[in-house]
Amino acid sequence: MDKIRIVGGHVLKGTIPISGAKNAALPLMIASLLTEERLILENVPRLADVALLQRILGNHGVNITTNGKRVGDDPYAGQTLELDARVIVDTTAPYDLVSRMRASFWVVGPLLARMGQARVSLPGGCAIGTRPVDFHLDALRAMGADIEIDAGYVVASARKGLKGGRYEFPKVSVGATHTALMAATLAEGETILENAAREPEVTDLADCLIKMGARIEGAGTHTIRIQGVSRLRGARHAVLPDRIETGTYAMAAAMVGGDVMLAGARADLLESAFDILRQAGVRIDVSDEGIRVSRNGDGILPVDVSTAPYPGFPTDLQAQLMALMTRASGASRITETIFENRFMHVQELARFGARIHLDGDTATIEGAERLTGAPVMATDLRASVSLVIAGLAAEGETLVQRVYHLDRGFEKLEEKLSRCGAVIERISG
Ligand code: UD1
Repeated sequence: MDKIRIVGGHVLKGTIPISGAKNAALPLMIASLLTEERLILENVPRLADVALLQRILGNHGVNITTNGKRVGDDPYAGQTLELDARVIVDTTAPYDLVSRMRASFWVVGPLLARMGQARVSLPGGCAIGTRPVDFHLDALRAMGADIEIDAGYVVASARKGLKGGRYEFPKVSVGATHTALMAATLAEGETILENAAREPEVTDLADCLIKMGARIEGAGTHTIRIQGVSRLRGARHAVLPDRIETGTYAMAAAMVGGDVMLAGARADLLESAFDILRQAGVRIDVSDEGIRVSRNGDGILPVDVSTAPYPGFPTDLQAQLMALMTRASGASRITETIFENRFMHVQELARFGARIHLDGDTATIEGAERLTGAPVMATDLRASVSLVIAGLAAEGETLVQRVYHLDRGFEKLEEKLSRCGAVIERISG
């Protein structure tokens, strides 16, 4: 298994190109199941999760072509995928594929809406606490679906098609909003989704669905109204920039100091995180080119943060912020409200000498002058990148094991950091 070796203590200076958002690309690819026509997606990141979803969609009969790179092309430009789901050959999503990536469960909505049936394995994914799918299923039931659980599979049917309905999510769920939104586009009549997720990735999906002929109002607010249509057409859509990758590199620059341009990033997608970074003493300048993040000489100030659904501080940046706060000049508090058990990075950060005390869903971090490099183990996607951030600032050598977690969500991580002066390399084997 590959490892990442980092020698810490080098400031970051230069430009980091921001990729298309993984969490938008995945539902957009799944939306291809809704139409017999071709969906063309631009700016799709090259990630293990995207490749896995290509296999899963291929299993349903979606033909996918990827544009090759030509000499002279920008090596950091995203790929263009053409997804053609003219014929759905199989409405089953099997355990061995779905168990490896939770988002693949979302095929249940489009398959059911277009084909009247779906058999989808209950999901797996990152080990960050129990992550049920009850809201997905209840939203589909509200549209008239019959749903049973059989031998680890969700078996859903709507022989006469889905009917518009009203559903209020008991708690904000990104994935359940994607599932319900996609299903409702082809349901007969009006669907109203209350307490819907407002994340930019939901809005990006809705924008693409509207290009495909869906009638959707209110995406990006708590209430989404969908008037079902009988069929959707093909479209061309560019995936929005990855706000979690943006925030991650912003925290890396804040951690080690220096001056980095996050090219192509959009500040409006990440205001809560930038507010926190400014409170911590980091300078953020927004321009047409992207977002410039710098910290020169000044220390890092402690902060008090709770994760929350968008537009709040994202849970997907919680581990990275915790790494940053290990070097603050005082005690910080970080409360995780979205997922239980999303603190697996705490014991690994302690290996760098970080002092973190856990009490239920709140971590108190006593900042320290220095961290020392250590061998550490990646446990989930976002936690693993927090170890990279700590390693960049720690004295001496850090070896991060199980980096396949990183490959699920961060494109060309070592290249992007090393071209800004970090000493970081992948060791294969
Ligand atoms: C998505 C993101 C993930 C991010 C998370 C929260 C993708 C591919 N993943 O995950 O990176 O951390 O949003 O912003 O976009 N819940 C239920 N029942 C359900 C569904 C969810 O109880 O049926 C709970 C979950 O356990 C969790 C909370 O709702 O406590 C939010 O989860 P959700 O927003 O659904 O996360 P994902 O869509 O899986």
